[in-house]
Amino acid sequence: MQMEHPKPHAIVIPYPYQGHVTPMINLAIRLASRGFTITFVQTEFIHQFMCKAQNLPAASFDLFAEARKSDLDIRYTTISDGFPLDFDRDLNFNEYWESMFRDFPDRVDEIVVKTMEADVLPETPPFLLVADTFYTWPATIAKKHNMVNVSFWTEPAIVFSLNYHLELLRQNGFSDKTQHGNAENYINYIPGIQSISTRDLMTYLQDPEAIPMLIKIVEKGFEQVKKADFILCNTVEELELETLSALNQKHPTYAIGPINFYTDLTKTSIAKSLWSESDCTQWLNSKPSGSVLYVSFGSIAESNKEEIGELAHGLLISEVYFVWVLRPDIIGGQESDVLPEGFKDVIKNKGLIVPWCNQNMVLSSPATGGFLTHCGWNSILESIWYGVPMICYPFLVDQPTNRKLVVDDWKIGVDLCEGEQVRREEVANQIDILMKGENSVQMKQKIQKVSKKLHDSMDAEGSSCTNFDRFVVDLKAKFC
Ligand code: UDX
Repeated sequence: MQMEHPKPHAIVIPYPYQGHVTPMINLAIRLASRGFTITFVQTEFIHQFMCKAQNLPAASFDLFAEARKSDLDIRYTTISDGFPLDFDRDLNFNEYWESMFRDFPDRVDEIVVKTMEADVLPETPPFLLVADTFYTWPATIAKKHNMVNVSFWTEPAIVFSLNYHLELLRQNGFSDKTQHGNAENYINYIPGIQSISTRDLMTYLQDPEAIPMLIKIVEKGFEQVKKADFILCNTVEELELETLSALNQKHPTYAIGPINFYTDLTKTSIAKSLWSESDCTQWLNSKPSGSVLYVSFGSIAESNKEEIGELAHGLLISEVYFVWVLRPDIIGGQESDVLPEGFKDVIKNKGLIVPWCNQNMVLSSPATGGFLTHCGWNSILESIWYGVPMICYPFLVDQPTNRKLVVDDWKIGVDLCEGEQVRREEVANQIDILMKGENSVQMKQKIQKVSKKLHDSMDAEGSSCTNFDRFVVDLKAKFC
């Protein structure tokens, strides 16, 4: 008779940024709901942010307290990233990530050993290490401790594939400015990607010298992912079929997105924000259906006063209602008021400006009719989920590539001053195109079709659910 294994135990480690933490929390919950024991390891720095957002003392904040009420076996612990809490990790990006390459793996190793040693009774379970694809050590640590390594990719498959084929891109001189200057070129030799303009590449590929650390992270991360046992991708098969099929020929890659919409538990009851959320519900409820533009640039994009000024004037010219998320650090945290003088007095009831909000609540409001977005992948999936067409205004990393998917491939959004400095007239013009007239009706119809694909994929028989089931079966087969 075949023996049943004890519950597998997954040590889960998110990348320390909001756009990566949220999907990893949801993956952890999903694994727990399939009977896995989870130890979720968060950096102390991110933990402190979350406590502050909840207005709770660090010692008493437990991210998964609610989840445990649903009988999920999720343990929560923190790990130092090696820097004091007041160290500016953005300003000292290179120093921070050098240390994350050099010293962080030893800390992870320690926590892995401690977790494994503590979970031997009544029987030692099979262990797995679930970590973000951008980390530069998961396969090495997993191998050392005889664990199964699951790499979680939180961005679209096209971005994964471009990173995966970095060497091929290099061989073809994709970033050789002496050869190409700034001219637009088309890349058509990446398996599963028909054709992509160099202008739609991730910013660290468009200009590798701008922040060399980003390329280094990608290089090291993708050396590791090639050794992973499984790759999970927060995308949907029906949206990126060709790219995923090509990837699958190299590695088992499971499209399981949009992971943030798995259950009500993932949607509501876990406080995942790094900043405290302003409540926009009452304001939104007072506005007509489809009349409000939501404006947000995610958790890391930085702007400047001039750009914010043009956007602000554009909103005024368009006369649209708007909710605008302006993080206190949107222009580096120095200025107290980044808006043009008198702007707040002029807008009166037209606009609501908040430092952070519950984005899902805003997007799900019937009043919201458009989203001016930086094209972060979570934001795109959330906008599609709620059927809200987008104005795309990418800033950095994967965002220009995500823009291509939204505007050029799926046609559920419009560009805003692509590659050029933003101008107020153009802001107003694109808002009109998105939210008024014939074009807006067509755009709405299109996004509803794409939205249905996302919702269908999450049905019990849908692609993302069946892919997740298949992943669990394949994973358990590894333990036998
Ligand atoms: C980063 C990268 O910039 C992004 O391109 C990549 O795909 C993931 O990592 P970020 O810039 O923060 O993420 O953007 P995004 O992926 O959209 O994630 C932001 C998350 O914060 C979303 O889940 C969104 O719902 C949430 N959010 C944003 C809020 O809850 N409230 C807000 O006010 C703004």
